[in-house]
Amino acid sequence: QEDYGDSLHNAPDGTFYRFPLRLVHGVPLMKPIADDWQKVESFQARPDDLLIATYPKAGTTWMQEIVDLVVNEGDLEKVKRAPTHIRFPFLEICSPPPIPSGIDILEETPSPRIIKTHLAYKLVPKSFWDQNCKVIYIARNAKDNAVSYYYFDLMNKTQPDPGPWEKYVDTFLKGDVGWGSWFDHVIDWWKAKDKHRILYMFYEDMKEDPKREIRKVMDFLGKNLSENILEKIYQHTSFQAMKDNPMANYTSFPSSILDHSCSPFMRKGEVGDWVNHFSETQNEVFDAKYKRRMEGTDLNFRYSI
Ligand code: A3P
Repeated sequence: QEDYGDSLHNAPDGTFYRFPLRLVHGVPLMKPIADDWQKVESFQARPDDLLIATYPKAGTTWMQEIVDLVVNEGDLEKVKRAPTHIRFPFLEICSPPPIPSGIDILEETPSPRIIKTHLAYKLVPKSFWDQNCKVIYIARNAKDNAVSYYYFDLMNKTQPDPGPWEKYVDTFLKGDVGWGSWFDHVIDWWKAKDKHRILYMFYEDMKEDPKREIRKVMDFLGKNLSENILEKIYQHTSFQAMKDNPMANYTSFPSSILDHSCSPFMRKGEVGDWVNHFSETQNEVFDAKYKRRMEGTDLNFRYSI
């Protein structure tokens, strides 16, 4: 681990090292994850684990806050007990200290655990399926997802440098980013949803009618909560409320890793922001690849084209 461990601690300007990506079964992952892959692969899920799975930047944090409130029946104090990254251990994150490894935290976490992952379907440890665990998957339209990922890669000092936006769209389309191709991710999880207990949700639906989507989560988790509680969950998980909430906006994370001065974690929270970023040419290239990759699937995103 020397090659990244030292630079992590000793970067001359006090910043963190941006990890390179390494292929794990064909999926590019940050090097520390790839190095510790055996530990992830052999992770032992428990039957009452709930997995929140997403391609990065699809609305993970938003869903985590909703799920925590549903599980805790709208108790606003309980969900302030710790920041997001502590409340929902991140399965595959294996880094040298001071970033705690997700699996080490999970081993200490009492059941029922709520676990975050960005893993492609084919990389999810088998034990989750053996244990018939529930999964909530959130997908976001490709272009907004790409924009959000670009800004995140700017502010997250452990991710590969995104380079200029003009080139990033191409990088994203090729799947040369952490956790791989958006297309493979959303399509493979979509195909998997009928084989397992997977609730497949869309960021755009959550924006359109948050209460309707929160109800879906309640039903999936077997929680029949009152309208009063639903209203509380809705209010507490609005973009503005979460942006102002230090337990949900990632400002408690070391600023040497997440640099909010480059771009805040809670950036815009909108559907369709891609129109402000894509050039006409980028859009044409994107649409052509999008049509090719999505053809033949019955997975339909609004606002993607
Ligand atoms: P933007 O960069 O488009 O603003 P993740 O949690 O998977 O990393 O996703 C982060 C994206 O979800 C960011 O998108 C962030 O602003 C958005 N987001 C977080 N909380 C939200 C909320 N309550 N409502 C709408 N969008 C939210």
